[in-house]
Amino acid sequence: MGIASAFVRESMPDRREQRYGDADFDWECRVDTCSATVSWRTRLLGLFHSPYQPVEPRLFHEIMNELKIDFTGFTFVDVGSGKGRALLLASAYPFQHVLGIELLPELHHIAEQNIAHAGTGLCGKLESVCGDAAELIFPRDPLVVFLFHPLPRAGLAQLVDNLQRSLLAHPRPLYVIYANPLFETLLASFRRLRKIGGTHQYSLFTNDQGGASPTSSVS
Ligand SMILES: C[S@@+](CC[C@H](N)C(=O)[O-])C[C@H]1O[C@@H](n2cnc3c(N)ncnc32)[C@H](O)[C@@H]1O
Repeated sequence: MGIASAFVRESMPDRREQRYGDADFDWECRVDTCSATVSWRTRLLGLFHSPYQPVEPRLFHEIMNELKIDFTGFTFVDVGSGKGRALLLASAYPFQHVLGIELLPELHHIAEQNIAHAGTGLCGKLESVCGDAAELIFPRDPLVVFLFHPLPRAGLAQLVDNLQRSLLAHPRPLYVIYANPLFETLLASFRRLRKIGGTHQYSLFTNDQGGASPTSSVS
């Protein structure tokens, strides 16, 4: 690639956001969710699991617009919630509960500080817990589960298995948002779950009979 085209490419908004850790959101909300300030130790640990990268606000809101649900009846679960970017974005919607689970203590503690600073927004309850998402006991509410490349394949398989058991034991509506869906095939065997939408950036699934996403294309 020539210098001129490399310069143009690096000047594109998405590349700028990557380099500067998408600082606009943090600046506007006075929080710390960018990946640029993560300590070297946590960055190193991230390489063994899944490196921290916050979701782009534009993409998050685009996905929320595709959910044709009454938010007040659902709990939002962010699997691998990092510094809490997706939790803060979800709190702008009237979910009954917004819950994040994050493996690395440094990221979880920053998420707690961000939540304390930002408040609960429109949702009923907003929290981050520190732990292994592969062992998460899912709340028994109707669920929106957000996966942004959170776990390596084996961990994600275990999480999908746990989620399926939870749904079998306590049937309820489920929506799964899978951003950067590298291991999407793991969801194929999930009973009654069907793909209802998505783009090249994410896939959207549900077991909800009435659940449909009329504006999305299903591949
Ligand atoms: C790509 S980041 C997503 C961050 C956040 N969901 C967002 O969208 O802003 C993935 C996160 O998953 C976390 N993670 C990796 N393995 C995990 C596990 N077993 N349990 C919980 N979190 C995990 C990483 O530490 C990292 O913070």
